Amino acid sequence: MEVQIVKNVWLELKEYIIERDIKKLFIITDKNIYNLYKENIDTFINKNNNLFIMEPGEEHKNIHTVHLVYKELLNKEIDRDGVILSIGGGVVGDLAGFVASTYKRGIRYIQVPTTLLSQVDSSIGGKVGIDFEGYKNVIGSFYFPMTTFVDTSFMKTLSQREITCGLGEILKYGLIIDYDFFKYMRSNITKMYEKDKEVILHAITKSISIKQSIVEKDKLDMGLRKILNFGHTVGHGIESYYKYKIFNHGEAVILGMVYESYIAKEKGLIDNSYFQEIFKTLNPLVQTRKFNEEEINRIIDYMKNDKKNKNGNISFVLPIGKGKVGMFNNIGEDIIKKILGDR
Ligand SMILES: NC(=O)c1ccc[n+]([C@@H]2O[C@H](COP(=O)([O-])OP(=O)(O)OC[C@H]3O[C@@H](n4cnc5c(N)ncnc54)[C@H](O)[C@@H]3O)[C@@H](O)[C@H]2O)c1
Ligand SMILES: [Zn+2]
Repeated sequence: MEVQIVKNVWLELKEYIIERDIKKLFIITDKNIYNLYKENIDTFINKNNNLFIMEPGEEHKNIHTVHLVYKELLNKEIDRDGVILSIGGGVVGDLAGFVASTYKRGIRYIQVPTTLLSQVDSSIGGKVGIDFEGYKNVIGSFYFPMTTFVDTSFMKTLSQREITCGLGEILKYGLIIDYDFFKYMRSNITKMYEKDKEVILHAITKSISIKQSIVEKDKLDMGLRKILNFGHTVGHGIESYYKYKIFNHGEAVILGMVYESYIAKEKGLIDNSYFQEIFKTLNPLVQTRKFNEEEINRIIDYMKNDKKNKNGNISFVLPIGKGKVGMFNNIGEDIIKKILGDR
């Protein structure tokens, strides 16, 4: 699980390709990234190296796009010694990794994540996959790239909203395992939006090392890795209820962490002052709202269908102290209804 944090990804890529004697490269990116980084990407294209530009957005992380990529890989006669180079956010990365893991029983791939979320989360941990029939990430596997190049200068072109999205997962790392990191991030949120180089670099480096250390202990997601789901139980419920339209993933996770911390407070797992600390940090990023009864029932239905559940109980990762979480599957519906209707 090699991740290299680099200053000039284009130069590093060129060196890497020469050093490894990679003869055939198949680049997958999306239209937005291509438009922004065309000049750099084009320098990799030649008679052996090809380019596939997908439509941007979650709605294209599906079997139809995979089909188009497979066809193009065959057209260009990419063999098992070919290498896929994914340049993009989590959508491109998940799809390109999935293609790499299945084409000709698996070919090598290199990841270049270009969003904050993909640099701190989706490019780490080997989960690759696509959505199917409206279900997120239901088709996929675990497949690790040859290497991942993280270049923070991609943040320059990223929207403020995409920063929020990555921040959700970054703050999550602090809350689940490293309270000092949470405190650091809390006092540097404005600098993240201002794209302060030093703060962004620290946030990304630390997040990668936290996620890597968790994944290394539980590569196939059987135990410890589940703590990464803090904020994701309620978060997924809210995302699904709004059909992935109103909130993007990171925003829904921010809301999820607030509501789940509220549950923890109600259950006496954390005290009110720690809850307030979390609330005051997260609420300015994405404001919570009171859901009405019908909305709450629908959100809970979505939560019940979550693939993380066992035996019909909704699983939760809840804070139990500063920078500490525990796993629970005995949270009553009454308490979930109360918190969703209360904030
Ligand atoms: N594999 C995992 O472990 C894992 C973990 C978390 C999330 N994910 C997946 O990641 C996906 C979300 O990833 P995302 O948030 O990166 O979304 P994304 O890939 O859709 O990127 C968001 C938007 O930013 C644009 N973009 C990308 N890089 C840019 C840049 N440098 N400058 C300007 N615009 C840029 C993209 O074209 C897109 O429009 C979801 O599909 C989710 O399921 C996977
Ligand atoms: Zn997430």
